[in-house]
Amino acid sequence: MPATRFAKYDRRLKVHVTRRLPQAVETRMAELFDVELNLLDLPMSPEKLRAAVAVADVLVSTVTDTIDAALIGAAGPDLKLIANFGVGVDHIDLEAARARGITVTNTPGVLTEDTADMVMALILSVPRRLAEGEKLVRAGAWAGWSPTGMLGHRIGGKRLGIVGMGRIGQAVAHRARAFGLSIHYHNRKRLPRAVEGPLEATWWPTLEAMLERVDIVSLNCPETPETHHLIDDARLRLMQRHAYLINAARGTLVDEAALAQCLARGGIAGAGLDVFEHEPAIDPRLLDLPNVVLLPHLGSATFEGRQAMGDKVITNIRVFADGHRPPDQVLADY
Ligand code: 8YV
Repeated sequence: MPATRFAKYDRRLKVHVTRRLPQAVETRMAELFDVELNLLDLPMSPEKLRAAVAVADVLVSTVTDTIDAALIGAAGPDLKLIANFGVGVDHIDLEAARARGITVTNTPGVLTEDTADMVMALILSVPRRLAEGEKLVRAGAWAGWSPTGMLGHRIGGKRLGIVGMGRIGQAVAHRARAFGLSIHYHNRKRLPRAVEGPLEATWWPTLEAMLERVDIVSLNCPETPETHHLIDDARLRLMQRHAYLINAARGTLVDEAALAQCLARGGIAGAGLDVFEHEPAIDPRLLDLPNVVLLPHLGSATFEGRQAMGDKVITNIRVFADGHRPPDQVLADY
């Protein structure tokens, strides 16, 4: 019998899942665990989360759960693992979890390509005015083709500045190269030549210098205390008037009020946003602007991706329960 991290191995693990997951994932979880599902799929209130962590062995969380120090303080003695469904863990107080001896896992890798596709879709949509054109047609307001109708800006030949050149940033860069964009990036560390070379990528040690020079900025870094409001009023003012801002990472990377003001005064040419600072609320000023494409956090929203994320969650729980380091443990071993 392998060593187990859970005190009572003679019973099925009590796993609380905070949102509905793909059917096949929920079914498999019900086969393996004593699972509590959120059948109404409403985001969990703090009270409901507290009740869940008080009795569960494992919490399967998502981006819509706030797992702060207070919640972790309310965890019962059995809670040993938070197996997050999603790669970003900015909604979890990792240090509080570590202090309580609770392991945290996430689901990296399986949503990289889907998220990069969505970034590329926004890069194409904003300069080429896709959303505006679609609305025009649906409104019955299209008067037919004309030589000067709805002109946008060419993608090819422009300079793309990627902020955060991890898995998703690099996947965006590969796609963007195929569309003729030149690749610039800002990252804490310069990437090895073997990665930079095929992309002909230029590393900018300072974000400010890159913002002044590129035509499209794509945010692809995680939300951390260091990256919160990374794009604020001062940095927006560095961007060129013809530049576009794309964000499919985390809404809190951008000071949304400053962005709305910047767009309204023509400080930049447009924005493509899949994430928002106070999701699902959106600054009403953004809703009125024609040069902004707004999406409802669709980055990883494919059947294939969500199934793979669920498979990873199950693997992380099972490996952890068997006494091993789960493959996607977020912090180093305690
Ligand atoms: C997920 C995401 O859908 O994985 C992430 O970090 O932002 C999304 O693509 C979401 O987080 C699920 O919890």
